[in-house]
Amino acid sequence: MTPFDFDSRKCRPAKYKLRDTSHFGFEDSRSLMLDILQIFCLSCRMCELGKSMLEEKGKKLDPHVFSNMQHDAKFMVVGQNPGFNECVRGVPFIGAAGQNFDDELDANGLSRDKLYITNIVKCKTPGNKFDSRHSKYKQICSAILKLEIQVIKPKMIITLGSHAFSFFAPDKRMSNHLGDIVWTDWGPIFPIYHPSPMNLADKSRKDKFKKDIRIMCKVVRKLLSN
Ligand code: URA
Repeated sequence: MTPFDFDSRKCRPAKYKLRDTSHFGFEDSRSLMLDILQIFCLSCRMCELGKSMLEEKGKKLDPHVFSNMQHDAKFMVVGQNPGFNECVRGVPFIGAAGQNFDDELDANGLSRDKLYITNIVKCKTPGNKFDSRHSKYKQICSAILKLEIQVIKPKMIITLGSHAFSFFAPDKRMSNHLGDIVWTDWGPIFPIYHPSPMNLADKSRKDKFKKDIRIMCKVVRKLLSN
C-alpha cells in the first residue's frame, strides 16, 4: 500500500476543487506545494482510517481533512484530528472547538488568516475517539505534517491539546508548559489546551485557555513586528 494508492472511490467531495495553477510564478511556490500536499493527504490510504468512508448523521463522509491552506501564514496551529463538521467542509477547526478558538482569537484582535491551521492526524476517527491507542496514526500522518512544516517554515508552532504537543516534545508533560514557549528540535512550540467544549467545561481550564491564548496572541504580534 502506498500513499498514492488511488482507488475508484467516488467520494472526492466537491469541497476540494483543484485550482488552475498554470499562471503561477516562483513566488507562488508555497501555495503550489500546499496544493500538492493536499492531494497527497486526501489520497492517503496508509491506514484503516483513510481507507474507508465514514457514515455519520445520514451522510457519507470522506474522513480526510488537510489544512486551512493559509500558505502565507508565519505561525502554525496543530490540533488533534478533524471532527464531523470539519469533514463536511474540508477545513480544520470550524466546529464547536474551532468556534471557541476563533472567539478567543477575535477577543485578542488576531485574525485566523494569520495562522496556518492543521492537525496532527488528518482523518476523523469513528465516534471522535482519540487516545493513546491512536498514536500509530500520529506516526503515519507525521510524514505529511513534516512536509507542511518545511513548506510553511513557521516562526512558532502552537499546539492545541496534549496529542499535538507530545508529538513535538515527547519527553515533556504539556501541563508543565502551558502558555509558555518550549524550545524543541522543531523550533519554538507554544502549548495551549485543546479548545473542545468538553475539554473546557471546567472553569479553571477555560480561564487558563483564555489566558494562554492572550499570551500567544501577544507573542505572535511581537514576532510579526520583528
Ligand atoms: N479538533 C481538532 O483537533 N481538530 C479539528 O480540526 C477540529 C476539532
